[in-house]
Amino acid sequence: MITSIKGENLLTLDDLSRDAIVEVLDTAEAFVEVNQRSIKKVPTLKGRVVASLFFEESTRTRLSFETAAKRLSADVLSLAVASSSVKKGESLRDTITTIDALGIDAVVLRHQSSGAPVQVSRMVPHVRVINAGDGQHQHPTQGLLDVFSVRQVLAERANTTGVESGASLFEGLNVLIIGDLRHSRVARSDIAAYAALGAKVRVAAPGTLLPTDLEGWPVEVVTDLDEALAGADVVGVLRLQKERGTGHLVPSLGEFTRFYGLTQERVKQLQPTAIITHPGPMNRGVEIDSLVADMPAAIIERQVSNGVPIRMAVLYLTVAGSSNQGAMSV
Ligand code: CP
Repeated sequence: MITSIKGENLLTLDDLSRDAIVEVLDTAEAFVEVNQRSIKKVPTLKGRVVASLFFEESTRTRLSFETAAKRLSADVLSLAVASSSVKKGESLRDTITTIDALGIDAVVLRHQSSGAPVQVSRMVPHVRVINAGDGQHQHPTQGLLDVFSVRQVLAERANTTGVESGASLFEGLNVLIIGDLRHSRVARSDIAAYAALGAKVRVAAPGTLLPTDLEGWPVEVVTDLDEALAGADVVGVLRLQKERGTGHLVPSLGEFTRFYGLTQERVKQLQPTAIITHPGPMNRGVEIDSLVADMPAAIIERQVSNGVPIRMAVLYLTVAGSSNQGAMSV
């Protein structure tokens, strides 16, 4: 178990302890305040270089990582993969060693292959590697921003602060994750984060969209969705990943929505205090009804906003690490 990501890579949440996760959340709280200033910039990573390599499409993760790095005063090298030598067939290894030769401190990597960030971390052991989503494996910063957003809401309701509450607000919290668990790296990171913090995690999906390796996961599979919804404190809705062939695994999108979508009818079963999350991008009208996505209970915009302070915290902890050079100046 990793007890702190200071000076470490961030490849998965599976091996992060409760303390390591709370350290990221608490660090992000300080950066929330920075993001509320008129001048949203601190010198924390001045002189450091962060490479942003997205081999797969992204809106939120890429923009918030690059914003986070710039707000920490790092220089950002952003590779436009579609117009790079990757399109001429350059390998991942050669791409990474080429970028490393320019002098970088960190790589933020999104890749369609599960395990690509682990491989890159072995290619450039002197560079910090941050996984921004790899295949069906992990999306660690999404998991962190999801639990951060939920802690923020719970802390506001309890008239306390996230830092004061630590992990206590997650003890016994009932979290229900619905949808395409099989292909979802977000689900894998969310489950690891919620479980590490002490929440009880249940999952609901058609059999074809459940992971084949579910044994050993810290979850309970729901058989009665209505009962699970009624008892949920948090409902995490997952995107139906049509680009990963999900369409062939459900009889029709309409049928998926009917049995597993968070429809207006189904949302009536929730407790009034229930929190709804979705990592985005949404298929409105498929896994979540459009009006439900815009309800106050749905904290989707808050999740997006929190992407910046969480990624600032991750860059700060991993890159500045234990060295004094990067001492936090906020
Ligand atoms: N949630 C998420 O990873 O969104 P993007 O694909 O837009 O980065």
